[in-house]
Parts: sequence; C-alpha cells; structure tokens
Amino acid sequence: MSQDNWISFWNSEHSIYVNARHLDQHYREVADRILQLGPAPGAQVLDFGCGEATHADRVAASVGQLWLCEAAARVRDHLRTRFGGQPNIKVIGPDELQAIPAGTLDLVVANSVAQYLTRDELDALLRTWRRLLTPDGRLVLADVVPPGVSPVSDALALLRYAWRNDFLGAAIAGLVRTVLSPYRRIRASLGITTYTEREITERIDAAGFKAARLPFNFEHQPARLSFVATPR
Ligand SMILES: C[S@@+](CC[C@H](N)C(=O)[O-])C[C@H]1O[C@@H](n2cnc3c(N)ncnc32)[C@H](O)[C@@H]1O
Repeated sequence: MSQDNWISFWNSEHSIYVNARHLDQHYREVADRILQLGPAPGAQVLDFGCGEATHADRVAASVGQLWLCEAAARVRDHLRTRFGGQPNIKVIGPDELQAIPAGTLDLVVANSVAQYLTRDELDALLRTWRRLLTPDGRLVLADVVPPGVSPVSDALALLRYAWRNDFLGAAIAGLVRTVLSPYRRIRASLGITTYTEREITERIDAAGFKAARLPFNFEHQPARLSFVATPR
C-alpha cells in the first residue's frame, strides 16, 4: 500500500463527511470519547492522525497540552487557522514527532488511522508512541478494521448513524458521491490494512505495551475494534 496515495486523498476535497452536520457530529463525538478517557488536567495528549478535529479546543480546555499530528498539509492548514490562537494546541506533521522528548505524553489517541498505514508503518509508530509515553501513560488505538468488514458494512453503519443524527438524506447522497469518488478507487486498488484482534494485540505488545480490547468501538461502526495499551 502506498501511504502517499491515501495522504493525497486526505489532502483532497473529499466527501467522507457527507455534510457540515456529519463533520460536526463526528468530531464532537471523537472529542467526547477522548474526554471520557479522563485525561488529567495537566495531561500531555497526542491526537495522532487527528483529521479536522473541529472540537479539539474542548479537549485542550481540559488538558495541559494537546498535540494534533496530521499528515495531510491541507488539513494541518485548517487546524492552524482554526486553533492558531489556542496556546496549548500544537499542530504538527508526523516528522515533528521526533522533536517531542521521550517520556512526555500521558495519552496518545489514534482513531481510525491504522487502516491507512502499512504494517511496517504501524509497527514503527507503535515504537515511537511507546518512547514518547510516560511509564504510566496510555495509548488508545481505535476503529481498527478487522478482516471481512466490507465497505457495505461501513455504509450501513454510516446510514444507521445518520438516521440517529438526522442527516440520513445527506448520507445517502454522500454514499453515492463516495462510490463515484477517488476513495472507492483507492480503497479498491490499495485496500486498507486490516487486523484480527489477535494480530493487532500481538503487534501492540511487541512494541513494549500490554494491550486490552475496549468493550466498545470509539466511533459508530461497531464491527471495528478499539484497544487501550499501557507500557510494560
Ligand atoms: C479516517 S481519518 C481519521 C481522522 C480522525 N482521527 C478521526 O477520528 O476522525 C484518517 C486521518 O489520518 C491521517 N493520517 C494517515 N496517515 C497518517 C500518518 N502517517 N501520520 C499522520 N496522520 C496520518 C489522514 O491524513 C487522515 O486525516
């Protein structure tokens, strides 16, 4: 899988979020989930592959420092425009992770990112996150896609989510756009990286963690898996 192609997709004007309501609801819930993890008021938190993170200011208001790490330059520009005035939000690219001193972070969250990385890329990132975490820090690796979860299952989960949140019509139109969009072509040609629960747990553990599956997924597709890991 070429990560560059997925990054160019995230850099493009894609329609994964079917309208403004979907975008707002999605990132509101991601922020709620991060806050439910209960980071301490002074916590150093990394949201890796954060996307638009439109409610990151609510997370930042409850922690010491929030790093938003995003590979897509267009998305980083949006984040800097949105949060430039917020002193405890730092927007960085993945290369800048190296500048964070070892043992700095209390919480790393990577939601819905693992599927866009190769196995080698994920392994390298797991080692980096392990190095950056404090001894009693936590990694939450969420929305991991197991084998056999098809785009149809993802589409049905989106429709159920849209029904509950009052944007069903826009979701149907958005799914049609997605079927005709580069997302479907890239997903069909490159695929996404999927993991069984056993494989992802072994990979997390091999990077120096003890991983446990969360009883729920971080976001709306219940067929996907979320994990919390602590340094061994
Ligand atoms: C499906 S979106 C998830 C966004 C967000 N985490 C959320 O919860 O909605 C995947 C995001 O991961 C980013 N991404 C992919 N590979 C990355 C990498 N190697 N480093 C940092 N960000 C990456 C993409 O640019 C995209 O914004």
